Amino acid sequence: MDTSKLSKFYRKTLHEKIESLYKAGVITEAEQTLLLEGRLDLPADTGDNMIENYLGNFSLPFGAAMNFVINGQEKVIPMAIEEPSVVAAASFAAKLAGSAGGFETTVTKRDMIGQVTLKGIIDYDGAERAIMNSKQAILDRANEAHPSIVKRGGGARDLEVRQLHDESQVNLPSFLSVHVHVDTQEAMGANIINTMMEGIAPYIEELTGGTALLRILSNYATESLATARCTIPAHTLKTGHFSGEDVRDRIIEATQVATIDPYRAVTHNKGIMNGVDAVVTATGNDWRAVEASVHAFASRSGQYRSLTQWEKNDAGDLVGRLTLPLPIGTVGGAISIHPAAKLAHQMLGHPNAMELSGILATVGLAQNLAAVRALVTDGIQKGHMGLHARSLAISAGAKGPEVQHVADQLKKAPHMNLEAARTILNSLN
Ligand code: MEV
Repeated sequence: MDTSKLSKFYRKTLHEKIESLYKAGVITEAEQTLLLEGRLDLPADTGDNMIENYLGNFSLPFGAAMNFVINGQEKVIPMAIEEPSVVAAASFAAKLAGSAGGFETTVTKRDMIGQVTLKGIIDYDGAERAIMNSKQAILDRANEAHPSIVKRGGGARDLEVRQLHDESQVNLPSFLSVHVHVDTQEAMGANIINTMMEGIAPYIEELTGGTALLRILSNYATESLATARCTIPAHTLKTGHFSGEDVRDRIIEATQVATIDPYRAVTHNKGIMNGVDAVVTATGNDWRAVEASVHAFASRSGQYRSLTQWEKNDAGDLVGRLTLPLPIGTVGGAISIHPAAKLAHQMLGHPNAMELSGILATVGLAQNLAAVRALVTDGIQKGHMGLHARSLAISAGAKGPEVQHVADQLKKAPHMNLEAARTILNSLN
């Protein structure tokens, strides 16, 4: 990738942005044409085959975050998001991290979990023993139920049994849940796993004497964890009258607050998900699965807490870390169908599912850094409202060059709202 072609990207016109992505080798010539002709939308006949009662498409802005260096590789990050400041904030934080080598990621495995949950068990310990004694036979049956994933190098790998006794609510009955860990290779794996769980349920019923109530994937992807890390020299954090050390310490303190207080943690983590969801959406993945998984993970200690950790190392640098469970894939569903999703995978250099998980964790970490740094210094509104001004100008009816003109004046106005935008626009005409 020739990133020199991408410098001052945000200052380019839409046409220049698209052209420079092609010149930098991020997109192909065909994709350049697709973008220039504004053909990123799902074709109507495709949409009509995807959902019941299809009426049309609901579009989101599709953009590119810049300056990311992940495991030594430069990346342009595709993001689909309507919130004005997210792409700019991610690019800003990536630049900060890039000055110190960028981000490092670790993804050690990517197994998804399937559950067969049984009711009506009489002897729980006996049922657990019966399952564990037939572990290999269950895994074999799971693989027989979906032979193509085995051919692709994946398949059911391991199994565990969980007795579900509710100690807090004495009125609830107990259940037994069999967890099968499945290597779903490049797929998110919902269909593979659901087929497998339906395939093995009768055998598990036979072994335990129970009745299978649920046979489904768990979106709580605790066997698919991705971690991103970065180290930011304190002096690069300096802003306004705040020294770099000050900003570093305030970011650490803000994260401590989000670790102690669920009210703050939810907003802190929402900021992380601004980046993660934008890339999950752009790459055609299931953002509901990722959201559900991530927030359960944030509560794994028994209390909802910050997903990021920010600390100081011996050299006084700010060191950040984010681990996320990520039920995502690089094939299947909308990924191979949606023109924008196909483009997003191309922009990222066609990462495999493990690499994509690392990229998602990185964007989450960058997004959190940008948000918390702004919060503990100038406040979030300065940057946010700057970009919001353009949305207000458009809402007021500004077109073409009027948008920037109205936005610029709006930033100087005593109140930045729709009414003020309309007044400025009227004064232009
Ligand atoms: C806004 O979408 C996200 C933030 O609220 C995140 C945060 O408070 O950390 C700015």
